[in-house]
Amino acid sequence: MPLRIAVVASGRGSNLQAILDAIADGTLDAEVVGVWSDRRDAFALERARATGVPAHLVRPRDYGDRTEHDAALFGSIDTATPDLIVCAGYMRLIGADAVDARPGRMINIHPSLLPAFKGLHTHQQALDAGVAEHGASVHVVTADLDGGPVLAQARVPVLPGDTAECLAARVLTREHPLLLETLRWIADGRLVLRGQTVHVNGRALTAPLQLAANQRFA
Ligand code: GRF
Repeated sequence: MPLRIAVVASGRGSNLQAILDAIADGTLDAEVVGVWSDRRDAFALERARATGVPAHLVRPRDYGDRTEHDAALFGSIDTATPDLIVCAGYMRLIGADAVDARPGRMINIHPSLLPAFKGLHTHQQALDAGVAEHGASVHVVTADLDGGPVLAQARVPVLPGDTAECLAARVLTREHPLLLETLRWIADGRLVLRGQTVHVNGRALTAPLQLAANQRFA
């Protein structure tokens, strides 16, 4: 049975597109059961419609507070019965109620080598810190922002003269294969999430999987 994926996105949706393309070319055994956004202008919604995937807009302004918006958004997602909820550029905090009700069923892709550089402007944060290496992480969503168990990472060098923009572009070329490889491992049961516990090939994950140059986990 293909892995049933719900995608939540606020913006351009390049990670969503990578998932849709991998499904279409047969390299990911999954189905995107819907795309949800908090923003009407999210290009991710266009990408969903263009592929015939149900696109849902759940706007915060239509609800009284975060808890109500979360309840509407994730309640709608639940009706599509996904196995996994993938936050791919979802730019809002998710409250503990919504996260705790779906233990181990939500992952997020974040553009830094967590636990370094949580939150926004991660590429500028990396440049300001003067690190030699930067990258992206896929982690389990918990109520602690960008603080859940890290499943997998991809690394890129920081080069002399880098701007936040060119560093972001370098990270993005690795971010898409990172997310896809993580989803493949979840889809075929090599990576199993149970609450905040993660098993890889039957053993507790002790360190994040690392994406190798061939775009597979080392
Ligand atoms: C990515 O850099 C992702 O890591 C971050 O937001 C960005 C989303 O990009 N969480 P896209 O919308 O998938 O193109």
